[in-house]
Amino acid sequence: MKVYVTRPVFDETIERLKREVDVELNSEERILSKKELIDRLRDKDGALTLLTDAVDLEVLQSAPRLKVVANFAVGFNNVEIDSATGLGVAVTNTPGVLTETTADFAWTLLMAAARRVAEADKFARAGKFKSWGPKMFLGHDIYGKTLGLIGLGRIGQAVARRASGFNMRVVFHDTEAIPERVVDELGVTRLPLDELLKISDFISLHVPLFPETQHLLNDRTFALMKPNCIVINTSRGPVVDEKALVRAVKDRKIAGAGLDVFEREPEIDPELFEIENVVLAPHIASASHETRLKMCTMAADNLLAVLKGQRPPNLVNPEVWDHRRHD
Ligand code: DGY
Repeated sequence: MKVYVTRPVFDETIERLKREVDVELNSEERILSKKELIDRLRDKDGALTLLTDAVDLEVLQSAPRLKVVANFAVGFNNVEIDSATGLGVAVTNTPGVLTETTADFAWTLLMAAARRVAEADKFARAGKFKSWGPKMFLGHDIYGKTLGLIGLGRIGQAVARRASGFNMRVVFHDTEAIPERVVDELGVTRLPLDELLKISDFISLHVPLFPETQHLLNDRTFALMKPNCIVINTSRGPVVDEKALVRAVKDRKIAGAGLDVFEREPEIDPELFEIENVVLAPHIASASHETRLKMCTMAADNLLAVLKGQRPPNLVNPEVWDHRRHD
């Protein structure tokens, strides 16, 4: 069996794969072009991909032996799932292992944006701290405020749990049914989206990217928010209309934002660089040593399971299983 790994990952994972299959690796720290991806997957049985690899119908059709795309991420919007399912290719992801780390980082951005940490750091490094000032870098309190969570899946719930230490009221909006037990345990209140937008002091996004969630935050929804509201996005960039966000912050319709993801990643709208009250991070919410290794191991486990004819633990398209590709 031949496997392709699209970017340098952990040595432990490569060694593990090598014990069972032939491994070919892109050893360069760059995203492969579509042509390169097609060329390299042409004779492969499995692919360990990253969220930066666009695995579309053309790529899948050009790889007639391919049985599995094991994505090294919980999100899988980079893979055309219907096309994979139609061609009998299993797609897997890495849920669960990054939940707590990502929730930690949503809070990191929230606190950094509320208390202007990035601005203050830049100021201190520039040697501008000449004296303590009563009005220097005034930010926003977090404790006792209202946190609005859009999406109350695994990560949204982990973010909610952390809010209790800040004595916050937590409200949420989700189009999915959330078990009453979870709602009770977390002490959260379900609200229609517009209500949540109107009353929240902080809004954190925890929805996957689907056509229905694209530009969920836009000119209309920003206009409903409170002027002191801070928006946090650790989900996917296109959930927010980035131009509308820039307008909302510049026009002071909201107070700021903490962004780990961007609409045209890795490109960042240059206007965002000019806005001080926006904290920017290069998609690192799950980037702890422990978590990234767990994600990588999970992706490899998923991949090897499929190649051994076993149902992988984290199959995204279960309907493929009875119609999967056979040699
Ligand atoms: C994911 O897994 O989908 C994150 O965006 C990266 O950890």
